[in-house]
Amino acid sequence: MNDHQIDLFEGQFEVPLGMAYNSYVIRDEKIAVMDTVDQNFGDEWLANLKREIGDAKVDYLVVQHMEPDHSACIAQFAKAYPEAKIVSQLLSFNMMKGYFGTDYADRRVVVKEGDTLDLGKHRLAFVAAPFVHWPEVFVSYDLTDRILFSADGFGKFGANDAVDPEGWDCEARRYYFGIVGKFGDKVQALLKKAAGLEIATICPLHGPVLATPEEIAHAVAQYATWSSYGVESEGVCVAYTSVYGHTREAALKFAEALKAKGCPKVAVADLARDDMYETIEDGFRYGRLVLATTTYNGAVFPKMEEYVRHLLRRNYQGRKIGLIENGTWAPLAAKGLKELFAGAKDISFCDTVVTIRGALDAASEAQLGKLADEILA
Ligand SMILES: Cc1cc2nc3c(=O)[nH]c(=O)nc-3n(C[C@H](O)[C@H](O)[C@H](O)COP(=O)(O)O)c2cc1C
Ligand SMILES: [Fe+2]
Ligand SMILES: [Fe+2]
Repeated sequence: MNDHQIDLFEGQFEVPLGMAYNSYVIRDEKIAVMDTVDQNFGDEWLANLKREIGDAKVDYLVVQHMEPDHSACIAQFAKAYPEAKIVSQLLSFNMMKGYFGTDYADRRVVVKEGDTLDLGKHRLAFVAAPFVHWPEVFVSYDLTDRILFSADGFGKFGANDAVDPEGWDCEARRYYFGIVGKFGDKVQALLKKAAGLEIATICPLHGPVLATPEEIAHAVAQYATWSSYGVESEGVCVAYTSVYGHTREAALKFAEALKAKGCPKVAVADLARDDMYETIEDGFRYGRLVLATTTYNGAVFPKMEEYVRHLLRRNYQGRKIGLIENGTWAPLAAKGLKELFAGAKDISFCDTVVTIRGALDAASEAQLGKLADEILA
């Protein structure tokens, strides 16, 4: 289902290209449907299913993930296909009780890691993927056609009928760091399990099916980098906040200095105006981060603090950070930022902290140049 009505995905993510909720049907001696869709698409989804299978009865609904963008139509499905069994983990059936008032005790097949489901020619093996990104998630592997049904893994923002001018990476990365970023170790565990499987196709719950060896290798390599908090691209992310424009001017001048010194990519963001999650993904994409912010009532400007807390909640680590602060009477933003990062793993700060007293002057401009050299070193 392609959703172009949605305002914010998961209550907070802007999705200018809409959103896709994928559900798959496996037609064999037995018919299995993989997950349902968002609440607004139940009728359309069931009509599509009927278009594919006609009056045949469905034998199984496999529920890999209970987040309502995929599970909202379980009750509607159960009513439309009264003979179908519902296949899921025990934890998911407990969640169904919370959402639908029933755990389908009379028509359920409870599976766990390593169990398989025979459909005839096809056999599905279930692999637990706890906390990628809910506790009950599992993925399914079709042993016959080597298809990985990867739940939210390898998903992206954007409807499937919209052409994404940036290809797969950008919105897959924003999705990953926005939604799954906190759970890098859990993704690593899943990748380890998947490494033992030969995968011909990846069928995620959002975004396009990955069907060529190149697409699959690329997506798996990106997930390996992202989930290990590795540096994906050479460059610097410069994130700033500014009240009256002076700190912005410093940030933009700093970005120009980096480019002049040969930095291959400089991603600049206004944290109060640009999409926060674009800047979060850039914070993880590059190995170097420069934060430029005003002092605000003796502390870090709120939008900057919000940004840093987003990074830290996602286990931000292994990065080099430069600081530019502005303060008219008592600059304290750099100190406040260093304190925020205190518990983070493997973070180093440039020695030079640029301090601006309102507007840039010759001394603070010289400091900017020094910081540029240090962050690129
Ligand atoms: C509501 C408010 C609170 C501020 N609090 C402080 C402060 O506690 N200490 C300080 O040195 N400057 C403080 N400032 C001044 C800012 O640091 C000032 O906006 C900045 O120095 C100029 O940079 P800008 O043009 O990027 O905003 C405050 C400014 C505002 C608007
Ligand atoms: Fe989800
Ligand atoms: Fe999802």
